[in-house]
Amino acid sequence: MSSAPRISPAPPAKRPRKVTLSLLQEKKALGEPIVMVTAYDHPSAQVAEAAGVDVVLVGDSAAMTVLGYPSTVPVSVDEMLMLAGAARRGLETPLLVGDLPFGSYEVSDEQAVATAQRFVKEAGCDAVKLERGGASADRARAIVAAGVPVMGHVGLTPQTATALGGYRSQGRTAERALDVAEDALALQDAGCFAIVFEAVPSALTDAIMPRLEVPVIGIGAGPATDGQVLVFHDLLGIYDGHAARFVKRYANVRRAMIEGITAYSDDVRARRYPEAEHGYTMAPDEIERLRGLLGNPRAERGGVDFDLMG
Ligand code: KIV
Repeated sequence: MSSAPRISPAPPAKRPRKVTLSLLQEKKALGEPIVMVTAYDHPSAQVAEAAGVDVVLVGDSAAMTVLGYPSTVPVSVDEMLMLAGAARRGLETPLLVGDLPFGSYEVSDEQAVATAQRFVKEAGCDAVKLERGGASADRARAIVAAGVPVMGHVGLTPQTATALGGYRSQGRTAERALDVAEDALALQDAGCFAIVFEAVPSALTDAIMPRLEVPVIGIGAGPATDGQVLVFHDLLGIYDGHAARFVKRYANVRRAMIEGITAYSDDVRARRYPEAEHGYTMAPDEIERLRGLLGNPRAERGGVDFDLMG
């Protein structure tokens, strides 16, 4: 008889818990950091899922990172919906938030609700995000009342960067810091389930955190927030060029992609690719039969001289 130890079968892998608004609130209460990242298509969403992030944002940063616009302003609702739908199909666990693009929610509550509903119905988003306090807080209230969860966004709000003096940190004087704080509190009062703080001094975050009951997700807002968000292309180093101070690069995917495409080009040009293993085979008798069926190509093809089998 064998004395080999009996190996009991591995327990079934535990499926991660679907991220809900209440789970985010729970994480805040427990002091467990919330991880959010942007994604704009099916493969990037699958990567975010596999990495186990909590929240995926189809940010309007897609305008610049994947659509090549000079700012986030030009991206349309239809473009965002196409990207958000692709991301949805790559996700099961994280909460999916779609960014309402500039001009798609500011005009009226009706416009804001109609656009938010499209993100839920057409792209399968769990929630939407909008920028700024003031009238945006009213729009947020209307969207929440219509049954769509809203994430707010204060500090540097790229959709209105021109009015803010460019892509620069916000709230660096006491008065401007108070403006940011008031925007955040207005969005909280309007029923937002979470708020993004972008490019504000850490001391401002520290000062306002005790007043915020909803999770705060920071990007360039210091360590005191309940979670952090970074743009997929920034953190993975997918593009060249200037990155904001708050970006930390965790990979250089652009370099790896260029190396891959260059190696492929070199192989094609040197006829090293494809090799036998990349092709399909045909049984020898089928090849023979094909030769028979082809007959004499010169006669049958009106005198054109070619031979498919070489
Ligand atoms: O559009 C975006 O990617 C964002 C994040 C930076 C929060 O709004």
